[in-house]
Amino acid sequence: MARVLAISNQKGGVAKTTTCLSLGASLAAAGQQVLVVDLDSQANLTMAAGFDPDQLDETIVDLLMAEIEELPYDLDMILCTTTVEGLQLLPADVRLAGLERRLYEYPGYEYLLKKILHKKNPDYDMILLDCPPSLSALTLMALSTADEVLIPAQCEYYAAKGLERLLEIVEAVREKTNPALSAAILPTMYDQRNRICRMVLNQLQQGFPEMVLDHLIGIDTKLREAPALGEPITVYAPNTRAAEQYNALAAEILENHKNTRKVV
Ligand SMILES: Nc1ncnc2c1ncn2[C@@H]1O[C@H](COP(=O)(O)OP(=O)(O)OP(=O)(O)O)[C@@H](O)[C@H]1O
Ligand SMILES: [Mg+2]
Repeated sequence: MARVLAISNQKGGVAKTTTCLSLGASLAAAGQQVLVVDLDSQANLTMAAGFDPDQLDETIVDLLMAEIEELPYDLDMILCTTTVEGLQLLPADVRLAGLERRLYEYPGYEYLLKKILHKKNPDYDMILLDCPPSLSALTLMALSTADEVLIPAQCEYYAAKGLERLLEIVEAVREKTNPALSAAILPTMYDQRNRICRMVLNQLQQGFPEMVLDHLIGIDTKLREAPALGEPITVYAPNTRAAEQYNALAAEILENHKNTRKVV
C-alpha cells in the first residue's frame, strides 16, 4: 500500500508545489514508484512537471466529477508519465476552481480522492498530494486521504502564526475523518545569512519540537528556474545544494517514519 503525503499550507508561495515535484523526483530516484497529484486549480504542479493543462483532454476534475456522479472512469487514461522514471502525475486544470466551490454540496466529499486512489494504491510506494493555498474543501479532502501531512514553512516572520491555524484544522480532521493523520514541518527557503531566517527556524524548532524535520531546504535560485523548463530540480540542476537537500529529505522520509509524528 502506498504511503500518502499531503503537502499543505494555506499560506501561498511557501514551496508546496516545488516540494511535491522535487521530493517526488528524489523518491523516484531512490527506487520508489511515485504518484504526484495536482489539487490546485492554478495547475502549477502540472506545468512544473512539463504539461500544459489546456492541452490535456481530462484531468483530476473529470475523475472527481465521475466519482460524484457514480460514472465509470479509467484513471490510467488520465495519468501523465513524466520524464523521471518511476514518477507519474495526476494533473489538474482551471476547472478545479469551479468544482471546488460545489464540493461542499456532496455529503462525504472528503472521501472522494481516497476512493479514486484506492484502486491505484497498490501500484505505488508513495503518493504526494499538492494542496492549494487555502483551507478549503480540496485541502480537507487531501487531509482526509493522507497518512501524513507535510507542511512546508517558509523561514519568515509570520510562519509560526499560520501554522497554528493549520494545526487546528489537522486536529479537526483527525476528529472527523482521519484519526491517524500525522504531521511534520519542513522549513523551506532558509537563508543562513539572514538573521530573521535563523530566528524563525529557531522559533519553529522550539515551538514544534516533535514536528520539525531534520532536513530543511535552503534558498536556491535554481529552484525558481526549474518550473519554466518543466523539470524537477534533481533533473534540471542535479548538482545544486537544493537537489541534494531534496534527496536528503527523501532519504529521511523513507528511513524514518517517526519523523511524521502525531502532534500532541
Ligand atoms: N528553496 C527555494 N529557493 C528559492 N525559491 C524557491 C524555493 N522553493 C520554491 N521557490 C520559488 O518560490 C515560488 C513559490 O514556490 P511554490 O510555487 O512551490 O510555492 P507554493 O506554496 O506551491 O505556492 P502556492 O501557494 O501559490 O501554491 C516559486 O517561484 C518557486 O520557484
Ligand atoms: Mg502550489
